[in-house]
Amino acid sequence: MLKGRSLIEPGNFSIEEMDSLFTLAEKIESDEHHLRECCRGKLLATLFFEPSTRTRLSFEAAMLRLGGNCLGFADPGSSSAVKGESLADTIRMAAGYADVIVMRNPKEGAALLASRYSPVPVINAGDGGHHHPTQTLTDLLTIRRLRGAVKNLTVGFCGDLKFGRTVHSLAKTLAYYENITMVFISPEELVIPEYITRHLQKLKIEFSETRNLEESMPRLDVLYMTRVQRERFFNEEDYIRLKDIYVLNAERMSLGKEELIVLHPLPRVNEIAVEVDDDPRAAYFRQAKYGMYVRMALLSSIMGVI
Ligand code: CP
Repeated sequence: MLKGRSLIEPGNFSIEEMDSLFTLAEKIESDEHHLRECCRGKLLATLFFEPSTRTRLSFEAAMLRLGGNCLGFADPGSSSAVKGESLADTIRMAAGYADVIVMRNPKEGAALLASRYSPVPVINAGDGGHHHPTQTLTDLLTIRRLRGAVKNLTVGFCGDLKFGRTVHSLAKTLAYYENITMVFISPEELVIPEYITRHLQKLKIEFSETRNLEESMPRLDVLYMTRVQRERFFNEEDYIRLKDIYVLNAERMSLGKEELIVLHPLPRVNEIAVEVDDDPRAAYFRQAKYGMYVRMALLSSIMGVI
């Protein structure tokens, strides 16, 4: 069903297609031999023009666990991009060597452009402050695993909602699920972009915007914390002023429901105190591992080997 398809932004895959991926990811998680070797002979190119730990390593782990192989770069400084090679030409090269391309790039729209030049599927691993659709697959699989289903939930998003591509992709996608209410918690300078709120209004999704994390805590089923991203600020003073505006600590966790789950795409800096890691409601490290399973499901489906 997903054979040969690219994944650039939310909406490229239907809810049914994503649900099939989650079912497959759950099967892989419960049986480590499931789909082993199904990608033997396949090559994944990972082109990372921005730093990454989880996305790149989980994609590479996924392809290796499926029996395939990987090539690519983690630092554009080691590629011919530093000599002035265009993205279009880089993609043409990678597509000649590999069967599927995963790319992260600081420019919004870069993945879409790449897909137009690539004869092989392109997966967007983050394009600037725009979208990060495979993080959304990770987030939804985590909610499904830990809450039973993605429905009837109040989801709070906290931190940098302006530049947070994981927030944009997840909020847009959650809008298609049943009975989801969203609470956007951010400072004035980092509010959720209008193109997202317009999308929610169009779909008649209930949402609110607030500055106050404490007040929001008691009503949340899922709290999605995010980092204030230094790399997206033009001005260091603004970053320093805003970076520690929300810190989730044990005291604030005491305001949350017993069945709350706390997610974070990671990396975290100060926005979740280390003391929260021992709280059973802290799910962010489990979330990162689900990311590998869902990427195994994604790669095997896109490669058409299942
Ligand atoms: N969640 C995420 O995108 O993490 P990395 O930046 O480490 O890939």
